Amino acid sequence: MLLVSIFKSYAGYSSKKQFEAGDKKIWLFTMIASHITLLLGLYQWTFGTLGLFTGPNASFGEVMKNSTTRFFQVEHPVMMILAIVFITLAHGMAKKTVDDTTKYKKAFRYFLIALILILVAVPWPFREVGRPWFPGM
Ligand code: HEM
Repeated sequence: MLLVSIFKSYAGYSSKKQFEAGDKKIWLFTMIASHITLLLGLYQWTFGTLGLFTGPNASFGEVMKNSTTRFFQVEHPVMMILAIVFITLAHGMAKKTVDDTTKYKKAFRYFLIALILILVAVPWPFREVGRPWFPGM
């Protein structure tokens, strides 16, 4: 959904289209999906295997020394929450009273920043803190 939102907001901006209700819907679905992911992330963050209450229970200093706990308890949540903030800002552009090209342009920028943050913060299998493509297989 984020990729579709990026593509459609770029298309709207570059061809100076009139703002469409369909785009507003896609932006809304993208925001809802990101907020659901936020809830799932917050659950993992508090009660998951690396959660604040159910994890290794290390002090903040110990969490920061270990690259895995630092990633899952600090870096990943901070970057993902920021990405979700940008997705929310992008969706908010649909309601702003600015001209349609500005709407598309700003939304495009916010969605793109969110995508970059997400790509940087995902525990890709090739990273030191990576998780497998197919866990359990
Ligand atoms: C766009 C949003 C997000 C995406 C795409 C995302 C993606 C992922 C992925 C791919 C994993 C690894 C799953 C696995 O294969 O084991 C993961 C794990 C994790 N995520 Fe996120 N995440 C997002 C948001 C968040 C947020 C907002 C938080 C915290 C507030 C969070 C906290 C965690 C934690 C703690 C884990 C480790 C879970 C465990 O193994 O116990 N995530 N996330």
